[in-house]
Amino acid sequence: MSSDYQEFIQQIHNKTGIDLSLYKEAQMKRRLTSLREKRGYKNFHSYFQTLNGDPALLDEFLDRMTINVSEFYRNRKRFEVLENKVIPYLLQKKKSLKIWSAACSTGEEPYTLAMILSKYIPLRQVEIIATDLDQNALERAEAGRYHERSLKEVSNEVKSEYFIKDGPLYEVKQEIKNCVTFKKHNLLADRYEKSCDLIVCRNVLIYFTEEAKESIYRKFSSSLEDGAIFFVGSTEQIFSPQKYGFDVYDTFFYIKQH
Ligand SMILES: C[S@@+](CC[C@H](N)C(=O)[O-])C[C@H]1O[C@@H](n2cnc3c(N)ncnc32)[C@H](O)[C@@H]1O
Repeated sequence: MSSDYQEFIQQIHNKTGIDLSLYKEAQMKRRLTSLREKRGYKNFHSYFQTLNGDPALLDEFLDRMTINVSEFYRNRKRFEVLENKVIPYLLQKKKSLKIWSAACSTGEEPYTLAMILSKYIPLRQVEIIATDLDQNALERAEAGRYHERSLKEVSNEVKSEYFIKDGPLYEVKQEIKNCVTFKKHNLLADRYEKSCDLIVCRNVLIYFTEEAKESIYRKFSSSLEDGAIFFVGSTEQIFSPQKYGFDVYDTFFYIKQH
């Protein structure tokens, strides 16, 4: 690794608390190098010197490193399993569920969860904690306004029930927004929630190194009640789930062993 990039990683860690050494290096370095070159800096040293005193440049950097793409009902077939198998299983054990959408980006995922839960329990009983590292993404999540492209997997029925069309945008209805509490949380540094019945953490673990992923799996496992469910992204199956106290429940769903 070039020492220029190494030094940058250290400086960013000191400044923001984000440890880039826990993200897969080749991919992250490529993304950041292309951004730095676009802005005309010949190395990371000079890029950091400006970024350190320029909030807009820092913001742009954070935006590039976080990769916020998301959509409602992402990988729809998996959400059908969640709706038809996982949620009924969980509700048969308990009337109210503690649900955590970790790395929720701009909110599509936790709002999808609320829309699914609404089929089984009154919305006022639905409470979802949704967290992300990226403050800008969380602000957009709270606003809850989306372009049509984020809704391509949403059925017409759900669209008319839970969205208000406003020009080119679709806004999530207040009753759905009320179900979700957004908070800033760094999966690599902050304390984890406890006693969860369902954790959804999708399309972020792929960016981390193997060591970082293992430590995150252990923490999620401790955050789950026995018999609770961990739902991962559609490229993120866990190798040797038993190592973390998980069994396979369905494809991309794991159950915390008793
Ligand atoms: C591709 S999005 C995934 C959004 C959603 N879970 C989905 O599957 O559609 C990845 C998210 O992970 C967040 N992220 C990256 N590193 C993180 C970290 N260390 N802690 C918490 N969130 C992180 C990013 O800010 C981004 O919003």
